[in-house]
Amino acid sequence: MTPDQRRPYIAGNWKMFKTAGQAREYAQKLLARLPMGNGVELAICPPFTALAATLEGLGGSEVKVLAQNMHQDAEGAYTGEVSAPMLVELGVHGTLLGHSERRQYFNETDRALQDKVPAALEAGLEPMLCVGETEEEREAGETQRKLRHQVQEALERVPEERLADVVIAYEPIWAIGTGHVATPEMAQDAIGFIRALVGDRSKDAADRVRVLYGGSVKPGNAAEILAQPDIDGALVGGASLDPDGLAEIVKAAAALVK
Ligand code: 13P
Repeated sequence: MTPDQRRPYIAGNWKMFKTAGQAREYAQKLLARLPMGNGVELAICPPFTALAATLEGLGGSEVKVLAQNMHQDAEGAYTGEVSAPMLVELGVHGTLLGHSERRQYFNETDRALQDKVPAALEAGLEPMLCVGETEEEREAGETQRKLRHQVQEALERVPEERLADVVIAYEPIWAIGTGHVATPEMAQDAIGFIRALVGDRSKDAADRVRVLYGGSVKPGNAAEILAQPDIDGALVGGASLDPDGLAEIVKAAAALVK
């Protein structure tokens, strides 16, 4: 496998923004702005309540819809949670897992992710696993230790032949929503390291697995980040709330395919 076979992937994480009505409007605008046949895989991650409307709005297009979280069990007494079969029934294609905001504010643990990542795969959903270090960890030289722990633990129960079906998003916490984007070199170093961690399990999976960068990606800085050899795309927060912004980032990715 060569890196050329990794299709660029842009995902927009809306976090807790947009109602179902706003999602429908967004979908129409986005489709009107996307360059046709651009070779870029694109996904939107709306809140649970806007998943159906987003799917409806994007119907017939190639744009995927991912949830932002999922419980590891298929059903159970877990008030407020949503399971993989519920997402599959809606037509959702995958789900973010382990976003730093879920780890920070809702006690998401590496232990739970060890069950969630394979549960998503088994249900037919694409897991997009988010990892990343805090500013303190980076300053203390702990970045690789943190990433090793997060990646190894979350992928531990994923069979070797499914490893490349997981998408990994490296999102340094200090770069999220701060405007302090990592330098392309920093992002490349961390993502190269993550790819090597997958390579410890399977060389073939390391060549094929897609690893994205997230943290203050904007239309103006996307191209230099996406040009790095190990960076296969971007997980975009704030800039994805505007369909124009997301379409511009898709164009930056598309320009690199050609
Ligand atoms: P921002 O692009 O707003 O920094 O958010 C990044 C993020 O957390 C995407 O999941």
